[in-house]
Amino acid sequence: MAYSEKVMDHFANPRNVGEIKDASGIGEVGNSKCGDIMKMYIKVEGNVITECKFKTFGCGAAIATSSMATELIKGKTIDEALKLTNKAVMEALDGLPPVKVHCSVLAEQAIKAALSDYYTRQGIDPEPIVGKIEECDHDHGCSCGEC
Ligand code: FES
Repeated sequence: MAYSEKVMDHFANPRNVGEIKDASGIGEVGNSKCGDIMKMYIKVEGNVITECKFKTFGCGAAIATSSMATELIKGKTIDEALKLTNKAVMEALDGLPPVKVHCSVLAEQAIKAALSDYYTRQGIDPEPIVGKIEECDHDHGCSCGEC
């Protein structure tokens, strides 16, 4: 399966690349199998994610999914961002080849990790709200769509 035009567009012109100096939350996740790393920064004002930036040291699909994920949560409330799934990111990109589904899982987890960090900074235990940030190794039920 070839990459969709949207994937190619977000890979070639990724949105929201960079760092946020005074971020409200920073999340970093990696996939041990491919070795790719994603770092996500969010700025929260009130209950809204006003800014979201990322840095991805990874494959083209990881760059495209992080780019799309930042676009999908920017301007949204924390509750809406918590509901973002890798499937929604893939749909917004018009799909990914099956071997690249795990890259979208990384994007979902990077956002969750940034939200976890945000709660931790407020002195709130993030796990009951955000859940565990688990790597997708297909041995347990995650939402990657391949498990
Ligand atoms: Fe590792 Fe895509 S191959 S994130």
